[in-house]
Amino acid sequence: MDPSKHRPSSAFNSPFFTTNSGAPVWNNNSSLTIGSRGPILLEDYHLVEKIANFDREKIPERVVHARGASAKGFFEVTHDISNLTCADFLRAPGVQTPVIVRFSTVIHERGSPETMRDPRGFAVKFYTREGNFDLVGNNFPVFFIRDGMQFPEMVHALKPNPKSHIQEDWRILDFFSHHPESLHMFTFLFDDVGVPQDYRHMDGSGVNTYTLINKAGKANYVKFHWRPTCGVKCLLEEEAIKVGGANHSHATQDLYDSIAAGNYPEWKLFIQVIDPDHEHSFDFDPLDVTKTWPEDILPLLPVGRLVLNKNIDNFFNENEQLAFSPALIVPGVYYSDDKMLQSRIFSYPDTQRYRLGPNYLQLPANAPKCAHHNNHHDGFMNFMHRDEEVNYFPSRYDSVRHAETHPIPPAIFNGKRERVIIDKENNFKQPGERYRSWAPDRQDRFVRRWVKALSDPRVTHEIRSIWVSYWSEADRSLGQKIASHLNLKPSI
Ligand code: HEM
Repeated sequence: MDPSKHRPSSAFNSPFFTTNSGAPVWNNNSSLTIGSRGPILLEDYHLVEKIANFDREKIPERVVHARGASAKGFFEVTHDISNLTCADFLRAPGVQTPVIVRFSTVIHERGSPETMRDPRGFAVKFYTREGNFDLVGNNFPVFFIRDGMQFPEMVHALKPNPKSHIQEDWRILDFFSHHPESLHMFTFLFDDVGVPQDYRHMDGSGVNTYTLINKAGKANYVKFHWRPTCGVKCLLEEEAIKVGGANHSHATQDLYDSIAAGNYPEWKLFIQVIDPDHEHSFDFDPLDVTKTWPEDILPLLPVGRLVLNKNIDNFFNENEQLAFSPALIVPGVYYSDDKMLQSRIFSYPDTQRYRLGPNYLQLPANAPKCAHHNNHHDGFMNFMHRDEEVNYFPSRYDSVRHAETHPIPPAIFNGKRERVIIDKENNFKQPGERYRSWAPDRQDRFVRRWVKALSDPRVTHEIRSIWVSYWSEADRSLGQKIASHLNLKPSI
């Protein structure tokens, strides 16, 4: 055995207790004391090591999406989209790629109930032959805001009040009263789908617009969508109270038990495509993360299927230490200029360096499964074995070279520096259409949830009126209904 390459693993467990350095422990129950009652000797290294390790067991939880469950499986291409992308993992029907997926709630802590009204994270790591591709999405296809500059403010408003540590509607409605672009997202959050039945019965979406590029260098904008083969199911208020009251980890348990029983969750992957040459021909901006792309004019094209057929072996290693990032793309896939996505590219690796340390990509769940090499090295907790003498580039002693080039979007930029909002806001049309597409009982539940939130005694008359005017602009009858429940006059 080469000692420097040996990795600790429970596969090499000794049949008896040892210290971390491998020395036998002949008593794991009693501290080393003078006499049977104490005091304890400082030389009881096993006790000190054990307690010191315990004292450091917890790492910072994710600042958002702290509560989650993960599982492993594979992605299989079912439809040829090689005309759109040169991505190796999408090269032909039948190609399979191993994946790990993490589902999550967004706002509350690591141990919070999984029945909260909250978006759900849907993050997929594809371990491709050309590096890891992370599709870090949510169950809703849109987002609250368009600019990463507002993200920390938004999260502060949604998180518990810093004084009471209770999530409070008046703070949420105050913040978003400044952001009518959030209306569309609220038609998901305050709809029945705001509390999914569990992680298996929910949609997923890449949310941001991405780019696919083919061998010839032709770029197209795409939206990614996951659809569960077992359908979307939700919990209404009464059910959510019962389910969450009985088991605050019901969705984690459902995922784990389903996979253990061989009932493997499956989703189909679809894309929608817009040719950037036509990006100005819509009444919305295709890079605007608050908009969906209408399926009647931009149909869902099938791409593949995702099957989760293996439970994780260890929650800490494959959930807490798992690190997804929209920055992780592979040749054939690229970002778009969506400002929100651009901020995300910075944020995830940055928080992970803090949360997990600078070598977080060496952790087995995060490391690529293909050969990889560069000269970023050392730092805290480095455990990569390296025996090269040349750790700089270029060098005449080392044959490592640049990879072959791959196409990236050819767009040419021209514009002045500015801090502004996008031109084509169109905040009210899609939320109104979505509300009108529902059956009356679903509309009523939506109204009831809004009336309840706006009835928080700390929501001011001004804020109530703003929300009534927003919803009236989306749909006149919706605004009227909310206003009449609140004894307000709709302004339009
Ligand atoms: C500029 C806007 C955003 C910022 C700055 C941001 C930031 C973050 C941060 C810091 C984390 C914690 C990551 C970690 O500790 O590993 C996170 C997690 C996550 N975010 Fe965002 N986020 C943004 C927008 C979004 C959007 C639009 C989506 C939906 C597509 C999204 C989906 C997720 C998911 C699914 C996770 C959990 C990943 C996991 O399971 O580990 N975020 N985000």
